[in-house]
Amino acid sequence: MEYKHIIAEKLSEITGVSYKDILEMIEVPKENKMGDFALPCFKLSRTLRKAPNQIADDLKEKFSDNDYLSKVKSVNGYLNFFIDKISFAKQTLTEIIQKGDLYGSSDEGNGQTICIDYSSVNGAKPLHLGHLYTTAIGHSLYQIYEFLGYNCVGINHLGDYGTQYGTLIVAYEKWGNKEKVDQYGVEELTRLYVKYHEEEENHPELADQARMWFKKVEDKNPEALELFNWLKEITLKEVHETYNLLGIEFDYYTGESFYTDKMQPVIDKLIETRLLVKDQGAQVVRLDDYDMPPCIMLRSDGASLYATRDMATALYRKQTFNFSKCLYVVAYHQDLHFKQFFKVLELAGYEWSDDLFHVNYGMVSLEDGAMSTRKGRMVLLKDLLSRAIEKATDIIEGKNPELENKEKIAKMIGVGSIVFSALKNNRIKDLVFSWDKALNFDGETAPYVQYTHARANSVLNKSNILLDDEADYSELDNDEAAQLITALADFEDIIKGAARRYEPSMITRYVVEVAQKFNKYYFDHRIIDNDNEKKNRARLLLTKASMQVIKTALELIGVEAPNQM
Ligand code: ARG
Repeated sequence: MEYKHIIAEKLSEITGVSYKDILEMIEVPKENKMGDFALPCFKLSRTLRKAPNQIADDLKEKFSDNDYLSKVKSVNGYLNFFIDKISFAKQTLTEIIQKGDLYGSSDEGNGQTICIDYSSVNGAKPLHLGHLYTTAIGHSLYQIYEFLGYNCVGINHLGDYGTQYGTLIVAYEKWGNKEKVDQYGVEELTRLYVKYHEEEENHPELADQARMWFKKVEDKNPEALELFNWLKEITLKEVHETYNLLGIEFDYYTGESFYTDKMQPVIDKLIETRLLVKDQGAQVVRLDDYDMPPCIMLRSDGASLYATRDMATALYRKQTFNFSKCLYVVAYHQDLHFKQFFKVLELAGYEWSDDLFHVNYGMVSLEDGAMSTRKGRMVLLKDLLSRAIEKATDIIEGKNPELENKEKIAKMIGVGSIVFSALKNNRIKDLVFSWDKALNFDGETAPYVQYTHARANSVLNKSNILLDDEADYSELDNDEAAQLITALADFEDIIKGAARRYEPSMITRYVVEVAQKFNKYYFDHRIIDNDNEKKNRARLLLTKASMQVIKTALELIGVEAPNQM
């Protein structure tokens, strides 16, 4: 694929025909002796107003000294390209080895800022399976964009505002006790939360009390505020533990409550632009023209809503970070919310509303139905991670008990396998969680790729050949090597594509492909042979380059690459 792509680029440059169109015209000839690729020039006759023969002859001249083409021939209106696999191999591997950890990176971002709102937890609730996707996708996009030269701002938009806090305070006052909460943290809060909802079914008056407590928080009543802050701290302490395990740090934990005193400018703007109208007591922006229900801005009691706070948040981020893009990694069940408030911002005249993107992803359910925090039916992220680590530990104990740093490596494998599986499919796909699948280490999984990385490392360690000297690249003139090198050369494009589509899964699938191609090469060719140092060197360089790409690709999806396992 890669050669085709380079040829298309060059042809597009010469002819002025779009790269995409040229790419579609290029064929793979049926017969080998007609070259690796061919351009049927009659497809260009109309645009270039010349006969196919003439076009082929003219274009051939422009390809005189191309590095990775051994030959370009003009035959009967066809331009035939013969790839020089050896010099392509040399060029690609040299670039990878020279650039090292920076191979695949670019300065495309040129210092522009991208805000990424992800993993946003709700106060007093644990991180559960549902958060795995936003967390893994957001973190990966962060790595990807930084690698492309953007300056990323990672924001955990805490759900720390709303009646659920009132709910929790009521439950705590009625059935809670401080020692227990201090000891068991969010687990105890969840228990209280579940109990509240059970009780509320028969005692609807509890809801009034919850509202009352939350009103007190809003009014900054000292007792209520103290409870609120304490509960929030407990949540944060616990989520930090999970983030540490995942190797994730946020630049900001500014949640919804941070914006409560920043909403007036939004409301003022909506009044000024005459967008805000009364509707059954509430104040809304009508969106009938866009086939959407009205976006409610203020309730009849004057309280703000999720959308109001998100509008204030967007304004604040634009002012503070002057982002060129702001991404919201949130499940698709909030599609309407994002469409609505993006639209309202646009109507209010903020032209940068075009730079807001909802990076949505599919829903996760359990095999026996939907998850529900209220009913306490969920898989906790920390349990999921620790079970995966346990399984990795067992496997290491069974297969390689002498391994150094066993604990650390078990963590890399366990955590890696969970993150990897979350980033394997297109993000929009719904998922049904099963423990068996989650703890599967075979097939296209992190451990498979990690193992390939460790294998490459051990091959390199076994040889004492210096890689700086000359290598005989003709050794790589075989299908297995050519396919692997083509894939390695594709890396930068894959990363850019993943960024453009906000789709880390493109990198996950890519790294599996590289690992498979490396393994195929490894099984079909001895890497260190007694034959000839220069040939060994070429094979070792290929091994080293593969290892480099695997490591970087894994890092971009937030998975660590152990040197041994
Ligand atoms: N806390 C919200 C939820 O769990 C997600 C917040 C996403 N970010 C935002 N700016 N709305 O549903």
